[in-house]
Amino acid sequence: MSLIKWTSEEYGTGVSQHDDEHKHLFGLLNGLHASVAAGERGSIGRALDGLIAFVAEHFSAEEKNMRKASYPALDQHLMEHEKLVKTCINLQQQFHAGTTEITTETTTFLRDWLKQHIPNVDRKYGPTLSAI
Ligand SMILES: [Fe+2]
Ligand SMILES: [Fe+2]
Repeated sequence: MSLIKWTSEEYGTGVSQHDDEHKHLFGLLNGLHASVAAGERGSIGRALDGLIAFVAEHFSAEEKNMRKASYPALDQHLMEHEKLVKTCINLQQQFHAGTTEITTETTTFLRDWLKQHIPNVDRKYGPTLSAI
């Protein structure tokens, strides 16, 4: 069972590039969740690293487009991104140091973050970014 499923009703932003990135992100998170369920530390680590790398890539892409469009709510959006990146990097370092484990609590936290951020924060850039 997938942890998160992309639908345009819930997650569509009107910007196809970012919708595609969100779909890819959901796939990576579902993959991490499946690795956690299987309980194999090596595959959890690879899935975690892949997900976090893509999160950073996706955030940069959104930020670049928001800057290009002189999007007025950029600062608040950046703050949310930075906070999650910090959390992810801490988690990644602690996991690889062997001082923490990735559990369904972790994947649920990430799912809830996306469920909040995409509809409430990302979606607001739709009209501005689809015009550039
Ligand atoms: Fe996003
Ligand atoms: Fe965002």
